[in-house]
Amino acid sequence: MSVPDDSHATPSPTAEQTACVLPWIHLCASIDGVYGRCCVDDSMYHTELYDEQEEPAFALNDDAIGCSPGSRYAKDNPDRVMGIREAFNSPNMKRTRLAMLGGERVEACKYCYFREDHGAQSYRQNVNRRFHQEYDLDALAARTAADGTVEEFPFFLDIRFGNLCNLRCVMCTYPVSSSWGAKQRPSWSSAVIDPYRDDDELWATLRENAHLIRKLYFAGGEPFLQPGHFAMLELLVETGNAHNVGIQYNSNLTVSPDNAIKLLRHFKSVGIGASCDGVGEVFEYIRAGGKWADFVANVRLLRSDFDVWLQVSPQRHNLWDLRNVLEFARTEGLEVDLANVVQWPQDLSVASLSAEEKARATQELTDLIAWCAELGWDKPATHLDALRSFMNSLDPTRLVDDGVS
Ligand SMILES: C[S@@+](CC[C@H](N)C(=O)[O-])C[C@H]1O[C@@H](n2cnc3c(N)ncnc32)[C@H](O)[C@@H]1O
Ligand code: SF4
Repeated sequence: MSVPDDSHATPSPTAEQTACVLPWIHLCASIDGVYGRCCVDDSMYHTELYDEQEEPAFALNDDAIGCSPGSRYAKDNPDRVMGIREAFNSPNMKRTRLAMLGGERVEACKYCYFREDHGAQSYRQNVNRRFHQEYDLDALAARTAADGTVEEFPFFLDIRFGNLCNLRCVMCTYPVSSSWGAKQRPSWSSAVIDPYRDDDELWATLRENAHLIRKLYFAGGEPFLQPGHFAMLELLVETGNAHNVGIQYNSNLTVSPDNAIKLLRHFKSVGIGASCDGVGEVFEYIRAGGKWADFVANVRLLRSDFDVWLQVSPQRHNLWDLRNVLEFARTEGLEVDLANVVQWPQDLSVASLSAEEKARATQELTDLIAWCAELGWDKPATHLDALRSFMNSLDPTRLVDDGVS
């Protein structure tokens, strides 16, 4: 659809407080086939449905973007089944852009607004900084038609190619991991979920628009096990577009990444957040099914070609092992990101510790912060400081940084 120039939207003076660059450049697609404005879009998750004994209706939220043809949601929402191009300009995506430019808050984005209201960093603020070249409100408004349409293809994609995973980490669950699914799935659902594998329209759209893709984020499940993830890499290499694309991963790095290495060398940049929730026994306890020795070997293998850092999810079970993780990182010369604090399940959250445990942990974190400061190691110092505030906050809900920068 072409739109006359004089029909463009204009930003309101308060758009600065509501607008996020992602609805103009990005699309997220969840493990079970629901599209989102980003990975913290409140409208896309209905994890509680997987607790039902009988198969429930998989109704989409009114403000959800829509779902893919292979999604479990497709049957109960036939009018909202769509491909990624359509999703990027679905009625709710268009409304989102106009609301943001008009200075209105968007219900689906409440995770970010809540954090900002309580003095924490939000994903919205992080991405607006990270994509500062694109985040110019007048420029965004100028490429937004009066009805909210944006003509370009989203250059940044986060497609979760299913839930296949070899581990059953203590803080994870079904449907995120198929290994958890093998243990706790309801009888009406399969352990492995992959809504995109046979989605011919998706693969045709990706092929057609491969030259427009600039950024990919892979999580899961475990990306280095997912056929869809490999198919996506191959598609970009085959079509000669890989050199334009920067990739970021979260991976458990306990499976061999050998099949990916040759492909990844074609890409513009590759960053891997290697999930490391402890050292040795603590790692193997939290990341159940994983072997510490495999993890270390894979980190060493990949870091010779790519940017690798340790991605820690602080929680009750690793609070007393953070020192070991930091020392391991120093020895290996790796950066550490500790911003993704576990908030759910609640009993694993450091906010649920007793007052006596919190006092001891506060001292430990204070010592670690001082040690990092002495070393001039700013990133972990900042994250540990946020963790200490979160643990001791009277209202800890959603107040930590989510580590996306
Ligand atoms: C869901 S995993 C998917 C990618 C990959 N399987 C991995 O473990 O890195 C992405 C990140 O979420 C973290 N994570 C898992 N369960 C979490 C929870 N309950 N709260 C916060 N982060 C969690 C993991 O530690 C990992 O760093
Ligand atoms: S490796 Fe990742 S997806 Fe798999 S169980 Fe652990 S956190 Fe969940």
